[in-house]
Amino acid sequence: MNESVKPMLASDNASGVHPALFERMMAANAGHAIGYGADAYTASAERLFRLHFGEQAKVFFVTTGTAANVLALQAIAQSVDAVFCADCAHLYVDECGAPERMAGCKVVGVATTDGKLELPALEEAVAFHAGLVHRSRPRVVSLSQATERGTVYQPEEVRRIAGFAHAQGMLVHMDGARLANAAASLGQSLGAITRDLGVDIVSFGGTKNGLMMAEAIVVIDPTLGGALPSIRKQGMQLASKQRFIAAQYLGYFEDDLWLHNARHANRMAARLASALRAIEGVRVTAPVEANMVFATLPPSWIAPLQQHTAFHVWNPRVSEVRFVTSFDTSERDIDAFTGEMARLATRETV
Ligand SMILES: Cc1ncc(COP(=O)(O)O)c(C=O)c1O
Repeated sequence: MNESVKPMLASDNASGVHPALFERMMAANAGHAIGYGADAYTASAERLFRLHFGEQAKVFFVTTGTAANVLALQAIAQSVDAVFCADCAHLYVDECGAPERMAGCKVVGVATTDGKLELPALEEAVAFHAGLVHRSRPRVVSLSQATERGTVYQPEEVRRIAGFAHAQGMLVHMDGARLANAAASLGQSLGAITRDLGVDIVSFGGTKNGLMMAEAIVVIDPTLGGALPSIRKQGMQLASKQRFIAAQYLGYFEDDLWLHNARHANRMAARLASALRAIEGVRVTAPVEANMVFATLPPSWIAPLQQHTAFHVWNPRVSEVRFVTSFDTSERDIDAFTGEMARLATRETV
């Protein structure tokens, strides 16, 4: 297939499955195992999650990040409740209204700087809704870590937001579709950037970091999520052959592949950003802290560059594009791509 030979910076879900995790699935393919999570692979994977997120953590495997977000919210919010998140958050703009339809709650998008919710704007939005029977009840703050703009909340920022949320009687959800990239960027453990900062429930991503259709809801606060087994089943996300999701997580955690993959993707983004900064006509438009790079380019470069490497135009109004690196993005791919861009820049100036 043509597509497979063209380098991809379109998304981290354009990459394939890490070969070691495919091997884990092959090993799990021997013989039969009881379905719906009553298998030994699931029990072992749940144990590994508890090593990272705490002994009291409960884990629910699902197949998409959207399902993780929606079912996590459904578990902690009612239809009269409001969920506050960045106005670029995946659950606000890219889930086709699934949180509203499934959880029934109102999702309130708050303007951000570089994708990160800031306390003053959040406080204002919550205050606007609080205490009035006419408005949805403030119930959840949802933070994407890393954010949709490729930035990473510092632990202190999460702690402050969680402190505010809890003081209001609200809960903290973290959309961790790229939590591994955030942990690698911060040099901290998964527990240190979630549980230890007051996060109550996490959508834990695997698919963007080398797994196949393997995401998880991690309930950190043991008083929450009692209905999740039924919510997941009703939400059509209880996989009968769940052992193939769980088997991947065994390889992911036992061999620290989560960290290895995320570090590599982050390094490739840093390499790309540093090359872009040296090219006349290109401006990197957001801090590069995980595995995403946003940049503005001369509009006439976009089509020829997309012939070479796939990527998305993020904001056509200002000719801003997004590049996402993966666990298997190579230095050679980055250098060939930025070389192509440098050639376009030189052509323009001669
Ligand atoms: C931050 C974030 N959360 C959630 C998702 C949802 O993942 P999925 O496409 O598997 O539903 C994505 C996917 O792009 C994402 O970027």
